[in-house]
Amino acid sequence: MKTDAEVLTFADTSRLIHATAEAIVQTLNAAIQERGRASFVLTGGSTIRPVYRLLTADYRDAVDWTLVHVFWGDERHVPHDAEESNYGMARKDLLNILPIPENQIHPMPTSRSPEEDASAYEEALRTNVDDGPPGFDLLLLGMGADGHVASLFPGSPALDESERFVLATQAPVGSSVMNRITLTPPAITASRVVFFVVTGERKRAAVAAVQSGSASALPAALISARERLVWFIDVEAAGKAAE
Ligand code: 6PG
Repeated sequence: MKTDAEVLTFADTSRLIHATAEAIVQTLNAAIQERGRASFVLTGGSTIRPVYRLLTADYRDAVDWTLVHVFWGDERHVPHDAEESNYGMARKDLLNILPIPENQIHPMPTSRSPEEDASAYEEALRTNVDDGPPGFDLLLLGMGADGHVASLFPGSPALDESERFVLATQAPVGSSVMNRITLTPPAITASRVVFFVVTGERKRAAVAAVQSGSASALPAALISARERLVWFIDVEAAGKAAE
């Protein structure tokens, strides 16, 4: 079931970061209350980092983190201790501080070929769920100025994938790391709740195109959620006044 997106626009980044952290906590707690655990998919990129750091500071005691299972929406195909690693970034900002059990942290592997590592992650997701797509409780996404989400880039064949949940993809030439692993649209849109966290004037055109419905080709325009899809954006990305 496609859900209409909610768009929350914030006058400044601090309010956006606090509202996003608050919403993450509420969503994880609702999942824990309903199902005894929460599956939480992290995004890479820089926008989300202050949210991760705030969760470890102001919200460390607001969630029973021992009941949270962590996954990734995408990964750069580099060693986990490389500067560009999404796993490495989340470790520093979030996972080295919150009491999430190690066996509940599921990084995308990057030690074999991108295709082999993508298949391995797909296999791991499939063993975690009875049948069908993973159905994550909360999945975070950033968005590039080109409208990419996770490592689903404009024009990628992965945008048309209907069976696989994880694929190896290529970032555009000139990207810091071209070899990527990413969840596919079926895996992302099967999530109960999806939060976009997007700030800055350079994202404005892509945000406007997605929200106007005139951007069917943009990866971000493909994203829906089973229960709730929320855009957390600032006035620069919105190109208009906050509500
Ligand atoms: C990554 C992310 C990617 C990111 C966007 C936005 O691996 O880099 O998953 O999809 O979320 O590129 O990045 P910024 O938040 O840094 O603009």
